[in-house]
Amino acid sequence: MASTAKPLLPGEANPLHSLDEWEEDVLERYPDPNAIAKDKSTEAYRNYETPARDTVKEFYRLNHTYQTFDFVKEKQNNFLKFDKKEMPVWDAFQFLNQLVDDSDPDTDLDQFQHLLQTSEAIRRDGHPEWMVMVGLMHDMGKTLCLFGEPQWAVVGDTFPVGCAYSDKIVYPEFFKNNPDYNDERYNTQYGMYKPNCGLRNVHMSWGHDEYVYQMMKDHLPEEGLYMLRYHSFYSWHREGEYSYLLDEHDKEMLKWVCLFNPYDLYSKNPTPPNWEELKPYYQKLVAKYLPATLKF
Ligand SMILES: [Fe+2]
Ligand SMILES: [Fe+2]
Repeated sequence: MASTAKPLLPGEANPLHSLDEWEEDVLERYPDPNAIAKDKSTEAYRNYETPARDTVKEFYRLNHTYQTFDFVKEKQNNFLKFDKKEMPVWDAFQFLNQLVDDSDPDTDLDQFQHLLQTSEAIRRDGHPEWMVMVGLMHDMGKTLCLFGEPQWAVVGDTFPVGCAYSDKIVYPEFFKNNPDYNDERYNTQYGMYKPNCGLRNVHMSWGHDEYVYQMMKDHLPEEGLYMLRYHSFYSWHREGEYSYLLDEHDKEMLKWVCLFNPYDLYSKNPTPPNWEELKPYYQKLVAKYLPATLKF
């Protein structure tokens, strides 16, 4: 019989001052080997390392405690209907940019600037244009916050639910608070899955990755969809965990997920991209891949 996690107290839901605090923590865990972002990743981050670390830790406590299998199913049922809002694609970027939080002015780039810096870094390296699109769209799922979802159900490293947790996931000790941890349907190596069943049959913790994947799934090639769907699944693409759930297709796609990740993590730059200059290229690109409106 599963125990239930304590209900959230008011004010408990959003410990991060900014969603970026999670990404900064990821960057500390996986620093840029080429130190392209040296100035930001070493000196600047160290200045506020300690306060950020406490909020990140609390963020993961909530994430690991409340992301149960049932929670994920409930969010899928709700958000994958895409019946909340419909708007022209370019309005969607403005909508995403309403996500402003009291982040450090020093590291303050809006969501659209991060998307553009990611897509521009991909474009500079001469990758196919569908991958530029992945860069441009990959965090659109963060709009979940604008529908009132708590931070721990939008960002954070993702992981399979319905089976045992890898101890390579950040702060694994917090999984002890998750009701699924003591539920024998879910707490064995395979849990509710079959050996090498393929990630497409595995439910991931709920957040912006799955949401944007579902939003884009008819519009981008398979490699790009893997980049979107698993970009925060660090215990897989960085730590090599969960091999026993993968099928041959996942193994084939892993290299694409790994190709994308550095562009997301290491393209942040304090200089905002020149949108006026880039606009014609992106208008054409978006019109080629996406319908006129996006559904949320
Ligand atoms: Fe992301
Ligand atoms: Fe990102």
